Amino acid sequence: MTTLRVCLAGATGWAGSELARAIARDAPDIALVAAVSRTHAGGNLSTVLGGIDVNVPIFATAADALASHACDVFVEYTQPESAVRHVRAALEGGAHVVIGTSGLTDADLREIDALARRRKRGVLAVGNFALTVVLLQRFAEMAAKLIPQWEIIDYADDAKTDAPSGTARELASRLAKVRQPEPTVPVELTAGERDARGATLGGTQVHSLRLPGYVISAEVIFGMTDQRLSIRHDSGNSARPYVDGALLAIRRVSSLVGLHRGLDAVLEI
Ligand SMILES: NC(=O)c1ccc[n+]([C@@H]2O[C@H](COP(=O)([O-])OP(=O)(O)OC[C@H]3O[C@@H](n4cnc5c(N)ncnc54)[C@H](OP(=O)(O)O)[C@@H]3O)[C@@H](O)[C@H]2O)c1
Repeated sequence: MTTLRVCLAGATGWAGSELARAIARDAPDIALVAAVSRTHAGGNLSTVLGGIDVNVPIFATAADALASHACDVFVEYTQPESAVRHVRAALEGGAHVVIGTSGLTDADLREIDALARRRKRGVLAVGNFALTVVLLQRFAEMAAKLIPQWEIIDYADDAKTDAPSGTARELASRLAKVRQPEPTVPVELTAGERDARGATLGGTQVHSLRLPGYVISAEVIFGMTDQRLSIRHDSGNSARPYVDGALLAIRRVSSLVGLHRGLDAVLEI
């Protein structure tokens, strides 16, 4: 069995630590060789996380980690401000990349795509690794073929700083490939506060709520005369729903060249 060497940026965070534990516990075909976290740089992941038997040194930057530990796949799970720098370093070091971090812009992703193609490496950017979100995306694409008007609402807790969520961005981008929505009153003709109609992403109006009491949810609402269809996804409090999708992405990303968005790039549904 070939073992995939993985460097995990954000391994001490909420999502990254759950993935690190799952790799250590349940993935004999994946070896975690290095981790990135500023606070714990110089330490070892087994000490920081506890309860897992791995020898994984932690570095402050992706460049530092990759300088001493070659990897096949680099996983980015930090924050948008550091993600592009990390991904650039990983591609220049010859690794394939899985991006779980949300909040990267379309311009960031275009730059990453160009670099990945030059380096003949795959990048899989997945705004949400949960299987139920993959289904939300698919069902929404089916609905958009038949229904010309829709809007997206993204709900998250009050501490989430980026907006819209990665899930909402990815959904809007996918729906734009199906068709452009046809609002009865174009948004630029709004009387009153234009911002009340939300942000326009790929032609879709996206509204982000940030309030205590929410975890993370995404809803797309399709409207037709006298009928309405809502397709909604809700996540619970644990990072467990993201693990299986992230493992699948790590195992399959080397089959790609350039940037691809969404888990279904490597999932047959
Ligand atoms: N795709 C998905 O399915 C999915 C699921 C959950 C979350 N996410 C996204 O994944 C990202 C991480 O979420 P989270 O909730 O795990 O965040 P978190 O708990 O704050 O963890 C962030 C991790 O990244 C590290 N980090 C942050 N900034 C860094 C920098 N500049 N350089 C190096 N390391 C840095 C942190 O360590 P230090 O602070 O010690 O540096 C920590 O290990 C977010 O963008 C979130 O929206 C995506």
